[in-house]
Amino acid sequence: MSTRILVAEDNADLRDLLQEVLDDAGYETILAEDGRQATVWIEREQEMIDLVITDVRMPSVTGEELLAAMRQRRAEAPVIVITAFGSVEQAVEMVRAGAFQYLTKPFNNRDLLAVVAEALARSEAQRAQARLRMDYSAPARIIGASRPMQKLFEQIAVSANSPGTVLITGESGTGKELVARAIHEGSRRRGAFVPVNCAAIPGDLIEAELFGHTGSAFTGARQARTGLIEAADKGTLFLDEIGELPMTMQPKLLRALQEGAVRPVGANTERPVSLRVVAATNRDLEKDVREGRFREDLYWRLNVIHLRVPPLRERAYDIPLLVEHFIAKACDGAAREPLDVSLESLAILTAYVWPGNVRELENAIERAVAFARGGKVLPEDLPERLRTSGEVSALIARSSEQNLTLRDVECEYILEIMRRTGGNKLRAAQILGLDRKTLYRKLDEYRARGLKEF
Ligand SMILES: Nc1ncnc2c1ncn2[C@@H]1O[C@H](COP(=O)(O)OP(=O)(O)OP(=O)(O)O)[C@@H](O)[C@H]1O
Ligand SMILES: [Mg+2]
Repeated sequence: MSTRILVAEDNADLRDLLQEVLDDAGYETILAEDGRQATVWIEREQEMIDLVITDVRMPSVTGEELLAAMRQRRAEAPVIVITAFGSVEQAVEMVRAGAFQYLTKPFNNRDLLAVVAEALARSEAQRAQARLRMDYSAPARIIGASRPMQKLFEQIAVSANSPGTVLITGESGTGKELVARAIHEGSRRRGAFVPVNCAAIPGDLIEAELFGHTGSAFTGARQARTGLIEAADKGTLFLDEIGELPMTMQPKLLRALQEGAVRPVGANTERPVSLRVVAATNRDLEKDVREGRFREDLYWRLNVIHLRVPPLRERAYDIPLLVEHFIAKACDGAAREPLDVSLESLAILTAYVWPGNVRELENAIERAVAFARGGKVLPEDLPERLRTSGEVSALIARSSEQNLTLRDVECEYILEIMRRTGGNKLRAAQILGLDRKTLYRKLDEYRARGLKEF
């Protein structure tokens, strides 16, 4: 879709000239002979107008009134003022009132086009930011009570307050993106969180996507575009699957990070950006560096702070909490009454090793909630592979399904692990993802309740 510019100018010669220059530059123009006509256009076609060029003094409705109408309806569309020598003061006033810039007559065509391009680039950047803010402002709710997760939360808080680049590693589906968002939120940077999936952008487009391009950078690029790096200005750039970034792009990215500036494709000047960079990968980047698949200099630039998100099998203790969380989320999404989970189901869920980590668990729960007919998630609602793999704690499976709270299940589960490790608290704490003190405290609690097994 081409860019539409509304031109409000009562002088016919100047109006024609403007139309010619803008048409030649590839813009579509809508012409208005005076302020009233322009107002009609604004009322009728406000969604279609990307920019307004207006004279100050016009019959019927003045440029100032036009600006006010535009700011009311399309605040994000820039207004450029052209002014004769006699009305410069009013033009300055209009810039104060929100016009992008003013040009004094006579102006040369190049200046005009430069101002138009600049105004469009800025409004595009603002729109990109607004879009991103809308799409990505969901609070990062990371569930985890296990010791490895508590440690991770500490590291997140520390990294959020430091400007250094963070490299997040972890298996697929462990929550790396969630961690990245939490770092952004904790950092209180005002800009947007901009996720970029380096594996998803085709190799020949990646430079233009990251750095943006000018209107004439290549065939097919009719309109200038702000790159993703610039959209993350004053915010956080999240480079997901950084291990997949093509070798040819790596020095360019490194340069942008070091200089804090981007040069859009086709542009000859750089634009400064204030960036916080968080990168993530499920690959062994150090190995990639050794084997020449990833540049060592970029690796060190990214790996200032390293966070490892532990796989779910190292924190089975978190599974009941996650199950509860995802059931609530799925029921909420489907506008259903919150469901319970049967003990047997919970036992199956905690015994499974989850190669797909939290994402696989979330999918299994979503599916189970969709299948559940009664008020509870039952084993038959769970995916087949879960039911047939792993041992299900016989004790929990046999337990009466009534009147047991999550706390009771936790107790059963902890005692079961204690039994399986032959009472080895150190080993049990490791499997449960608990620190030893917490395990001791819980065992004390159980003893106080009359469970004297350990
Ligand atoms: N600790 C957690 N608490 C709540 N939800 C979580 C947690 N960890 C992951 N999730 C959810 O699991 C899903 C996968 O998480 P995410 O996309 O962050 O994983 P990832 O590590 O980036 O995976 P991949 O390597 O496949 O890109 C998301 O829906 C996320 O909200
Ligand atoms: Mg991810």
